[in-house]
Amino acid sequence: MPADAGIQPVWLVLWIPACAGMTRDWLQNPEDPMSIRQLFDLTGRTALITGGSRGLGLQIAEALGEMGARLVLSARKADELEAAAALLKASGVDASWIAADAAQPDDLARLVDGTLARLGHVDILINNAGATWGAPAEDHPLDAWDKVMNLNVRGTFLLTQAIGKRSMIPRRSGRIVIIASIAGLRGNAPGTMKTLAYNTSKGALVNFTRALAGEWGPYGITVNALAPGFFPSKMTRGVLQQFGTDKLAERAPLARIGAEEDLKGAALLFASDAGRHITGQILAIDGGVTAV
Ligand SMILES: NC(=O)c1ccc[n+]([C@@H]2O[C@H](COP(=O)([O-])OP(=O)(O)OC[C@H]3O[C@@H](n4cnc5c(N)ncnc54)[C@H](OP(=O)(O)O)[C@@H]3O)[C@@H](O)[C@H]2O)c1
Repeated sequence: MPADAGIQPVWLVLWIPACAGMTRDWLQNPEDPMSIRQLFDLTGRTALITGGSRGLGLQIAEALGEMGARLVLSARKADELEAAAALLKASGVDASWIAADAAQPDDLARLVDGTLARLGHVDILINNAGATWGAPAEDHPLDAWDKVMNLNVRGTFLLTQAIGKRSMIPRRSGRIVIIASIAGLRGNAPGTMKTLAYNTSKGALVNFTRALAGEWGPYGITVNALAPGFFPSKMTRGVLQQFGTDKLAERAPLARIGAEEDLKGAALLFASDAGRHITGQILAIDGGVTAV
């Protein structure tokens, strides 16, 4: 056959189905390259965010919602949840809410049932609801210790266990993000906060993250934690007033405390396909406080 004979019909007959097969395989193979936009895209994904009515939880809800996830927010106060969902809906996010006390096992069971009924399954679980208590260690009340532990640690355990067992393990996929704190990585300097139960609970979440990552990695579930430094919120209002925002910011190499957008990128990394090879990690979002 001469070199310039052109493409013969017989080659087209063989070549077109081969290309079609290649395209189908490319689309179906999850290991094939995705664009960076696809890696961070959450279109069609579902997320449950505890403590999603305000503060850091709402900030994370905004990030996941903007990237396309359908959301269920949870907290105790219905009015704040309604306001948060309305805010999200106003910017086109599919958000609803279920009021539940994350320190109460019965409430958590109802939250899991309601969320699965609404979303079908949960791709992303953000364990963010948390509480603190300020008191010198020697006088720390037992009921305050239990309150902090039952919400921050036990609530996270029970909700994660139920969502994992009922939705993520059967589907062999999931993204779990724990909102720990830099208080879980260290103590407090003399003359500053006295929050022994809080620091202890966040330290527990740090190792909860690593241990669960080890157990559930084989199911295709990633478990990572964000460890924020100071961010303005209802929880930190008193501390920021007492010690002064500028003084707290001075401790950070970046000379600032956290702001409204500062958790979004890291939360999205852990929640999306961009983070599929990251598990068991604790990422400080603290302006560099824990680096020095
Ligand atoms: N702000 C910071 O500087 C900072 C730093 C490090 C870590 N964190 C962590 O970030 C998370 C969010 O804190 P934040 O600063 O955003 O505080 P926040 O503004 O006080 O928000 C706390 C959220 O948790 C909910 N919540 C509290 N108790 C609950 C319970 N028993 N059951 C269910 N939901 C409950 C609250 O709603 P309801 O009151 O209606 O229940 C609210 O939605 C916490 O885990 C906190 O430890 C914050």
